[in-house]
Amino acid sequence: MVRNVSNPPTLGLKECIKDLLGERGFAYIAKAKELRAAGKDVISFGVGQPDIPTFDHIVEEGIKALKERFTGYTETQGIKELRIAIAEYLNERYGSDVREDEVLVTIGTKGAAFLALAAYLKPGDEVIVPEPTYPVYSEAPKFIGAKPVYIPLKWEGEDRGFSLDIEKIEKAVSSKTKALVVNNPHNPTGAIFKPAELEALMDLARKHNLVIFVDEIYDNFIYEEGTFKSFMEFPDWRDYVVYLNGFSKTFSMTGWRVGYLVARGDVVRNLTKLAVNVWSCPPSMAQRAAIAALKGDWKPVRNMVNLFRERRDVIVTELRKVPGFEVWKSAGAFYVFPRVRKLLDGIGMSVEEFVNYLISTKYVVTLPGTAFPNTAGRDYVRFSFCISKDRIVEGVKRIKDAVENLLSSKSKR
Ligand SMILES: Cc1ncc(COP(=O)(O)O)c(C=O)c1O
Repeated sequence: MVRNVSNPPTLGLKECIKDLLGERGFAYIAKAKELRAAGKDVISFGVGQPDIPTFDHIVEEGIKALKERFTGYTETQGIKELRIAIAEYLNERYGSDVREDEVLVTIGTKGAAFLALAAYLKPGDEVIVPEPTYPVYSEAPKFIGAKPVYIPLKWEGEDRGFSLDIEKIEKAVSSKTKALVVNNPHNPTGAIFKPAELEALMDLARKHNLVIFVDEIYDNFIYEEGTFKSFMEFPDWRDYVVYLNGFSKTFSMTGWRVGYLVARGDVVRNLTKLAVNVWSCPPSMAQRAAIAALKGDWKPVRNMVNLFRERRDVIVTELRKVPGFEVWKSAGAFYVFPRVRKLLDGIGMSVEEFVNYLISTKYVVTLPGTAFPNTAGRDYVRFSFCISKDRIVEGVKRIKDAVENLLSSKSKR
């Protein structure tokens, strides 16, 4: 007999799950797919992944691993050869002294982030999150019962862009503060924080005994030489930093799901105990491909970054022609984050309404800044420039048309 239970126990999820924001970016990507299936010529500035497929030598190594049936479980921490390759890469690039036993290979950088936040934060703890933020840094703490304390980035105008508000961050430190988050280069703004800002964060960590979760997943998408400093360059990183990075962006390997976490050895040993109970090990064949990525030819990476620099220049030039858009030329990652507050006030729309209007009337997909918690993004729209220059020009032209229509119908009323 099938009983019809009015309140079945399977609905008894923890409240904190119900309160989680899904990653809104994925919802807009689904919308773009739907419109494309309906035959519309969609231009998507929504997706945060390079449009260049994974480079050949990496794919070939993945296939080789599969053919050799390198398909079983591996060490939870990741295969030793990959951990050595990651440590060598970081040490060569940043002059650090990472050892192979201080590296934990994870299921994407997001896996590393979740593991780290879950391992450090207790219910009631506070974690300082500069906003707007990549959503895992607000949602994972919420799920754990910890509190993200949001500190908006400072908008310094079209010429200077975004910076960390160190004064407000320091003021937000309380007896409950356990950690800080910093993502650099930054999603969604494309900012690269200045070495002095990073040093100020390290000083806060030293003064108040805080952990810093550092996400440097875009550290190869740097458009001006010499502007980026890694937290791995601080000689005392072991005392304060849990470092997160991965292969998704640099090598266009988003679906391979390989990331990594670097922390002092005893921390990595404990996190490995958590990882084994969550995912056993990262994908074996993808780990082999990741070794090929680090040790193989970096020319395709350099070519991709050069192409993205050109695209950034194009999108910034084009967006600056749109009335009501204040556009800072982003310095890293592959995003531009124009401020559209004046426009929104002029047309009487929220940023979500504006973004939805662009999708439904022009088939152009962008993300509202509010997809990146908390509320600081309500004045901004995020553009990813992972599409060709021609499509960028065409997409922004459609937006300009839409904006001009909105402004003229407003002025007629
Ligand atoms: C700042 C940031 N961290 C982490 C990730 C997730 O990366 P992965 O694919 O390695 O999980 C992303 C992806 O967009 C990101 O923007």
